[in-house]
Amino acid sequence: PETGCLSIVVLGASGDLAKKKTFPALYHLFLQGFLPSEEVHIFGYARTKISDDELRNRIRGYLITDKSASTEHLDNVTKFLELVKYVSGSYDSEEGFQLLDKEIAKHELSKNSVEGSSRRLFYLALPPSVYPSVCKMIRHNCMNKSDLGGWTRIVVEKPFGKDLESAEQLSSQIGQLFDEPQIYRIDHYLGKELVQNLLVLRFANRFFLPLWNRDNIDNVQIVFREDFGTEGRGGYFDEYGIIRDIIQNHLLQVLCLVAMEKPVSLKPEHIRDEKVKVLQSVLPIKDEEVVLGQYEAYRDDPTVPDHSNTPTFATVVLRIHNERWEGVPFILKAGKALNSRKAEIRVQFKDVPGDIFKCMASDLQNSGKKQGRNEFVIRLQPSEAMYMKLTVKQPGLEMLTVQSELDLSYRQRYQGVTIPEAYERLILDTIRGDQQHFVRRDELKAAWEIFTPLLHRIDDGEKKPLPYKPGSRGPEAADELLAKAGYVQTHGY
Ligand code: BG6
Repeated sequence: PETGCLSIVVLGASGDLAKKKTFPALYHLFLQGFLPSEEVHIFGYARTKISDDELRNRIRGYLITDKSASTEHLDNVTKFLELVKYVSGSYDSEEGFQLLDKEIAKHELSKNSVEGSSRRLFYLALPPSVYPSVCKMIRHNCMNKSDLGGWTRIVVEKPFGKDLESAEQLSSQIGQLFDEPQIYRIDHYLGKELVQNLLVLRFANRFFLPLWNRDNIDNVQIVFREDFGTEGRGGYFDEYGIIRDIIQNHLLQVLCLVAMEKPVSLKPEHIRDEKVKVLQSVLPIKDEEVVLGQYEAYRDDPTVPDHSNTPTFATVVLRIHNERWEGVPFILKAGKALNSRKAEIRVQFKDVPGDIFKCMASDLQNSGKKQGRNEFVIRLQPSEAMYMKLTVKQPGLEMLTVQSELDLSYRQRYQGVTIPEAYERLILDTIRGDQQHFVRRDELKAAWEIFTPLLHRIDDGEKKPLPYKPGSRGPEAADELLAKAGYVQTHGY
């Protein structure tokens, strides 16, 4: 790995993302030795005029939330904060960025033990409306000093636009200033342990190779549930809605990894080539395969307009038109203010042909119902796990069957292993220059192409959300759509 002077600039240093995700992730990387103090400096940049110490104190508050924090933790936070400096300036002023450049250069000169390197990472923890101007300012004022070598990279977060056209516009504005290998578009779902595991699971296990197709799989569900509402983010959320907030990015990225063909190698470009092909094979969404919902009380949020039509829940069926998946519905479902917090993938297999055990399930006897289906579940969170639902003989004298599970629960199997936070891993990837878990420009375009027509119908008020009770499963129509798509509720689940 490259060594040398590394400057990490967090733009939007006093915002919500920086506070909840970026600084804690940097702190954890520091703790694990990935940000050695002889090489690294962290700069916070924002409009507010505060001192270095004020920023440090704020960050301290994000990192020490527990009153009974150990002295070791307190000491570590202090050591980490010694790496942090603050520069204030606006997002479109040359002076601010010139000052920032000067500070970075000073740091690069002072680290004489790692002479000759200028690695600069700009993390835009900002709303996308300022991306073009910030990128321009960085490009004009803050690039790494080429005589010292190194690199300049920028990290950007969703929402990358609101539809195909605005996303493409944003991409081309940024694309005129930076080359694709310098741009890291974060989708934090790609940093989750079990999402990263999908590639290994699918392509390193003989079990799955012959089964992973339309001959064996009946339907796939990718589900995101949250048991809280917009919680102070109503203003942002109402402009975007659940499809842009969760489905078009996080769930679609997961779908790519579940559905893609085997890449030629693990090179980021090979992986992303396959993901793009999946996205380009998705057929236009049918109106009758969409259910939208909005939880009652959503509009009570003072930041949400009284007549908002924004969905806080959606179930959308996607169909992939290729040899492997023709006829297999991929059901993407996401909702806020539901009955639980969970994200999972459910791969449901077809019924066993010529089933000789019909009605022998211990709890189904004489009911005329079928055996439960095999189902492979990957729970991304909480409590990461993978389990396979299968039918076994119920232990005992009678020849009865029962649904059981082969269960790999991470907490049990990997006791004592800390699963890294998604942001931690992704920031480390940006430092290492690995773009595998980042969204490429053509991927982003293909993702917007899928959802833009539906989003426009919603924005125009042609498609309206159904009300649902907070704390429920969402609108009943969503369960009906699920059943129509072929999902069979597994017995005992
Ligand atoms: C974000 C969304 O991208 O993901 C939020 O903007 C959502 O609305 C969050 O709450 C969920 O992330 P996680 O990692 O908690 O599933």
